[in-house]
Amino acid sequence: TPGIRPLIAGNWKMNGTIREAIALAESIGANAPRGEADPDLVVFPPFPHLHAVGSTLMGHGVAMGAQDCHAEPKGAHTGDVSAPMLRDIGCAYVLVGHSERRLNHHESDADVRDKAAAAIMAGVVPVICVGETMAQKAAGQSESVIQRQLQNSMPDRFSTARGVVAYEPDWAIGTGRTPSEEDITTIHALLRRLAPAGTRLLYGGSVKAGNAPVILALPNVDGVLVGGASLAAAEFLAIAAAA
Ligand code: G3P
Repeated sequence: TPGIRPLIAGNWKMNGTIREAIALAESIGANAPRGEADPDLVVFPPFPHLHAVGSTLMGHGVAMGAQDCHAEPKGAHTGDVSAPMLRDIGCAYVLVGHSERRLNHHESDADVRDKAAAAIMAGVVPVICVGETMAQKAAGQSESVIQRQLQNSMPDRFSTARGVVAYEPDWAIGTGRTPSEEDITTIHALLRRLAPAGTRLLYGGSVKAGNAPVILALPNVDGVLVGGASLAAAEFLAIAAAA
């Protein structure tokens, strides 16, 4: 999209040791493209790896994010991590409402909106994830589901946050299947209409070096959110090179 710098995001999910995370961050950091026309890069390690990855990436021009945050800044929430803590450890971004959180942790749109609001309050850019299930797609409900999810997941101040929205249909995650180019185009046009101007719109779900050039060339696709293929530095960098 004219005037929007692409964003290539790697969601490491619940993988690896600290040692492996450092090695991955080192090779991404050392080889990240840093020209004027190059995309922004961000990696999302698991919480226990944030400190080590943040130190490793220091000065390499690759940003770091977390995979979730709590909606409140502090308090009696055993096992949770707040947005100010993420900011403190060096996170510039946080994923909110990933389908694995919506499905496995029963997060509602209201939960996602509150988390996104907490992130903005803490100075962390929220990456709001939306996407339909295969049953919803089969029923012809993709657009209505995504419209409802996004409208109910964006907090009031989202327009001031230079925020990010990621379209990830859950049936495309880790399956090797992707929506058609036409489907991605349709959904991203919808996201563009609904999201504030300047919002970066990412596609996620089985993105690899092989399909990245085609996906990144589609209108209103401002980047990709990569899962499995982001665990290998060379593949992740190849995806970035396609942007
Ligand atoms: O957040 C990225 C993710 O859900 C996509 O995963 O493994 O299909 O690239 P993958």
